[in-house]
Amino acid sequence: MSDLAKMQAAAAALEFVEDGMLIGLGTGSTANHFIRMLGDRVAEGLNVGGLPTSEASRRLAQQVGVPLIEIDQADRIDLTIDGADEIDPDFRLLKGGGGALLREKIIAHASDVMIVIADDSKTVTTLGKFPLPVEVTPFGFTITAKKVFDVLRAAGCAGTDVAMREAGAPGRPYLTDNGNYILDCQCGAIPDADLVCQELNRIPGVMENGIFPLFASTTRGLILGSEDGVVIKGLG
Ligand code: 5RP
Repeated sequence: MSDLAKMQAAAAALEFVEDGMLIGLGTGSTANHFIRMLGDRVAEGLNVGGLPTSEASRRLAQQVGVPLIEIDQADRIDLTIDGADEIDPDFRLLKGGGGALLREKIIAHASDVMIVIADDSKTVTTLGKFPLPVEVTPFGFTITAKKVFDVLRAAGCAGTDVAMREAGAPGRPYLTDNGNYILDCQCGAIPDADLVCQELNRIPGVMENGIFPLFASTTRGLILGSEDGVVIKGLG
């Protein structure tokens, strides 16, 4: 999908940023466009505090001059702008292709408003074609992987293949910013995403999973970019 579509969505999200806001900074190529554009606005005099959802986003924000707030200096966030791997018709998300799902979910859940920015290829009727990432503790990850498999099978997912994400060399685990592993689950289709999210998080070795259900205290909006412009949904 074209970079222009992602840039259009990121540029439209800037319109929702107000002076003095605490802003959650997402992770991924679409969120990176937003962070760079926010840096331009800061250079013009905008006053915001950024809370990055990954070390990669932290580095980029520092490079482009977005002032950062330490995570434990904030107990709530005004607005988070983040990308997604899949978006269903009710604005549930599948996220974590970039491995940042745990921090992304902590930041999104603490936000008054979350605006998802994405190119228009990310909308789906049912979540699950994109592999569902599940962040797990290294200790006992084989046991945890079996429990994850059992949950997906019991929930009637079309596929139940669970594989440890690798990085650098075959067999070498990818490590998240939190020092954990990622299990990528080829679900095919997830019939009840809210149930799967809940059941996965009941497994002791699971830190978080990439299904983002709707959060009661967070308004979720969507900006879908294409080469022709944007479509904005759920933001009044
Ligand atoms: C990272 C994510 C990203 O938001 C997701 O992977 C989308 O990335 P991109 O904007 O590069 O398509 O969840 O953990």
